This record gives sequence, structure tokens and C-alpha cells, in this order.
Amino acid sequence: MPSSVMATTRLAAGQQSPAAVSAVGLRKSYGDKTVLDGIDLRIPAGSVFALLGPNGAGKTTAVKILSTLISADGGQAQVAGHDVAASADGVRAAIGVTGQFSAVDGLITGEENMLLMADLHHLSRREGRRVTAALLERFDLTEAAKKPASTYSGGMKRRLDIAMTLVGNPRIIFLDEPTTGLDPRSRHNMWGIIRELVSDGVTVFLTTQYLEEADELADRIAVLNDGKIAAEGTADELKRMIPGGHVRLRFTDPAAYQSAASALRETTADDESLALQIPSDGSQRELRAILDWLDAAGVEADELTVHTPDLDDVFFALTSGANQPNSSKEAAR
Ligand SMILES: Nc1ncnc2c1ncn2[C@@H]1O[C@H](COP(=O)(O)OP(=O)(O)OP(=O)(O)O)[C@@H](O)[C@H]1O
Ligand SMILES: [Mg+2]
Repeated sequence: MPSSVMATTRLAAGQQSPAAVSAVGLRKSYGDKTVLDGIDLRIPAGSVFALLGPNGAGKTTAVKILSTLISADGGQAQVAGHDVAASADGVRAAIGVTGQFSAVDGLITGEENMLLMADLHHLSRREGRRVTAALLERFDLTEAAKKPASTYSGGMKRRLDIAMTLVGNPRIIFLDEPTTGLDPRSRHNMWGIIRELVSDGVTVFLTTQYLEEADELADRIAVLNDGKIAAEGTADELKRMIPGGHVRLRFTDPAAYQSAASALRETTADDESLALQIPSDGSQRELRAILDWLDAAGVEADELTVHTPDLDDVFFALTSGANQPNSSKEAAR
């Protein structure tokens, strides 16, 4: 694809660094409320980056600054090799943004929404029609193309949103909560769409409140809390940062449970479900030690499961209590 070659050449020529997005010390306040308190980012071209954070953490603010919709109070950011403050037009030419709230006009059809975007990108009529038809097909919207967008389901609207973002063939796209409000099937479809973009070489900057989503899609994840990046790394690196791994032994025989509970040290006992929880990194060595110990004690567990911390554990460990979402998962803890 010539435009991708161009984008790569432009990055390589204009920059020593192959970063698609980089930021140093980004700051933004509204009145006396500091939303971003010095954010550093570096996102390699062709990768997926997820910015995670609770409601009000500043995710949308970061996206708006990087996509030149608002300006930062301090710090610097470069996107596709252009400074967001000094060269907003250069940034805009290279990116696509799918906002948290839909840009779809419900009064006109899906096709008309797409053609409008083609006009905004100064495509010729013929090229606009070609791109529109191809994208509608790709996002499974051909059948609905001539219906008013207000009649679309949430998933269809979201797909149309992304299709509209792709009209200008951007090399970097910002997706602000691309799957919020979608049912599990639509969410998985959206993940497929995002993976396809990445395999085309597009850099994806997404925000999400779903840890599972970041885990599924992102090469690197940053957790935003209290105006700062509380942690940054791969999903595995983040999970290793916090304790929480354990082995769970479940018994059906209360006597076996009791003898295991009284003999095993450092366990958390759950008398109701006859289960024991032993802190463990899940390694073969530790599992063997537990099995040896059970053999020696002459007890047999009915079920042994290994739990490694998930991103939810990381999220709760890193984000402050005040912002902690009162989700069902939290209630179940
Ligand atoms: N234009 C504005 N004027 C005043 N305060 C604002 C403005 N925009 C955002 N804020 C505040 O900045 C903080 C961060 O908002 P932002 O929308 O970036 O959070 P978010 O992480 O995207 O949250 P959500 O998950 O709810 O989308 C919030 O406290 C919000 O109220
Ligand atoms: Mg937001």
C-alpha cells in the first residue's frame, strides 16, 4: 500500500525514533482540577497501546490532546512525527479519531455519513463512492447502508463510526472506549476489527475500562490514575507487579478439609465452600511442593486450581479507592 510506505518513510526521515506517538510531561488542568499531571508516553509504530483508567481519570483528555482537539497546558507530544502544538495539520492528516461519543449523524443513512467523511477528506466523488462501498462491505453494513443511521443497533453504529474514521486511510487511530456498551458478541467483533487494522500496520491507541480488552488487544498498557501513569508495561509485566497468585484446593469431605486446613500453613480457609487458598506463583516447583505435602498428610483434594492475578487485580491495586468503580466484580470480592 503506497500510503503506508509513505507514512513509514515520513516517520523514518523526520525522526530518529520510530515512535508513532510520544509525549513528555503532558499536563492539563480544568480550573484548579489537575487532570493530567505530567504524562510520558512512547508508542512504537504498528503496535496497540491501551490507556486504562477509572471514570474521570483523564483518558479522553489525553486522546483529545494527542489528536489536537484541545491543547495541553504543559509538556510536549509528537504524533506521526509532528508536534501536536506546532503542527496540528500534520498530525490531523495522519490520524483518525473515533470519539467516546458517536460522530454518526442519525438523520442521514450510513452511506451518506460515509460520503460526508469522503467529502471532508477531499476525495473525488468516484473515489468517495469506491471507498464508502469498500468500507461498508468490510464492516458488514452494506445491507443497512441506505437506512437512516438512527435505526442502527449500538454495534452497527460503532462499526459505522470506525468505518468513518478509516475513510482517510489513517496510519494512527485513536479509539476512545471502542466497545463500551456493546454486547459480548459485538465486542468480540470489534476486537477482530482492531486486530485487522493492526495487521495492516496501523498504530492503535485505545482507551478502555475493560481490563480484559486491554489484555486481549494491547502490546503495552498504561494505567492512568490521579493524573499520573501509575504503571506501564505488557499485561504480563503488570500482572507480575502485584501479589495475588494462589493455588486453590477444594474438598468435598469435611474431614479431609479440616485435616488439610490444620496442617497447611499460610492458607486462607473458606469453611463454607471447603476450600483452601495457598499463596503461590503457580510454578511447577511450588505445585509439586503442595502435592508432596498433601501426599505426606494423606489427604486428597477434589479440585486443584491455579490462579494468577488478572488485570482486574492490577487495576484495583493501582487505582485509588476514591475512583474505584463499584462493579459487580468488586461486589463479588
Ligand atoms: N471541558 C471540561 N471542563 C471541565 N472539566 C472537564 C472538562 N473535560 C473533562 N473535565 C474533567 O476532567 C476529568 C477527566 O475527564 P476525562 O473525560 O478525560 O476522563 P475519562 O478518563 O475519559 O473518563 P470516562 O471513563 O468517564 O470517559 C474529569 O474530572 C472531567 O470532569
Ligand atoms: Mg472518556
